[in-house]
Amino acid sequence: MTKQEQASGALQPVIWTEDHVSLLDQRLLPEQVVYLKLNTAQDVWEAIRHLKVRGAPAIGISAAYGVVLGSRHASEDLTQWRELVHEAAAALATSRPTAVNLFWALDRMKARADALSALGGTLESAKRALLDEAIAIQSEDEQTCRMIGEHALGLLQPNTGVLTHCNAGGLATARYGTALAPLYLAQDQGMNLRVFADETRPVLQGARLTAFELQQAGIDVTLICDNMAAMVMAKGWVQAVIVGTDRVAANGDVANKIGTYGVAVLAKAHNIPFYVACPMSTIDLHTATGADIPIEERAPEEITNGFGKRTAPLGIKVYNPAFDITPAEYVTAIITERGIIRPPYPEALAALFAGL
Ligand code: MRU
Repeated sequence: MTKQEQASGALQPVIWTEDHVSLLDQRLLPEQVVYLKLNTAQDVWEAIRHLKVRGAPAIGISAAYGVVLGSRHASEDLTQWRELVHEAAAALATSRPTAVNLFWALDRMKARADALSALGGTLESAKRALLDEAIAIQSEDEQTCRMIGEHALGLLQPNTGVLTHCNAGGLATARYGTALAPLYLAQDQGMNLRVFADETRPVLQGARLTAFELQQAGIDVTLICDNMAAMVMAKGWVQAVIVGTDRVAANGDVANKIGTYGVAVLAKAHNIPFYVACPMSTIDLHTATGADIPIEERAPEEITNGFGKRTAPLGIKVYNPAFDITPAEYVTAIITERGIIRPPYPEALAALFAGL
């Protein structure tokens, strides 16, 4: 393992430890590194809702373990166990609405439980097999992110600048990240990239998480406020934008952290390619367009009290959507574990899933 690989893997967001989930509390980064011990599906629901774990793939991985925790006390038979699996999955599905990886992982866990229950066998063996499924979701995500990184690397030139928004790094996945994966691989190859991390108001995933994990890895990262991206692009310092996503619709519209759409518009105005990196599990062919993607709205305090003190008048009206939709026309390419997808997206995305 290289130094960078060690660094990118050093702080895993989710770890299954013997009989519980160890979860890195991302609300406390970068000041404190604290792992929480989660014992129940309710603990996992709460961790997802309150952003202790966040990022589409990491939410899906956590939810898969949540299903394990929510069904492990079954003591009667496979029928009771299967019911508990479905109950836990239904509850976890209400934690956050936008990242489709959550629903993808829950569906996969339910399907596995259904198959195990139909198969018969002992309760203990079924419980163990369901845990193995959650572990597989996590380890497959690591492989997937590595492959995304390899494909994306081919789009980047040495000694150039990359701008990213929010955190789509190791902290948001099993390891490496999606948007940040090529940056770790580029570092390994001595490609010398300069990264600009948008701070990402209001919850500051860029400042607290992306700047933190890239700095830990020894990657050249410069933190900017969101409203500085245009200036940095105008100066010619950015040759590519790479972001992650919470859901890609069948027409190629992309939901990602609020502010992503603005970055895409800026990239187009400056003739800079705008890349979206994601696993196939983030592509939702059942959602026709971006307008059909549910957008989470979060508490006004994230905006009015986000810096540990009040920064707005009491009683002010606040609009706080956590995500926005970047129309497909702004997306230069979508980078998946199976390669680089280019427009027209409806056909290209359908072809990607054909035969699967
Ligand atoms: O609210 P968050 O922090 O969960 O939002 C995360 C993002 O928007 C990420 O860019 C996205 O989930 C992709 S993570 C690989």
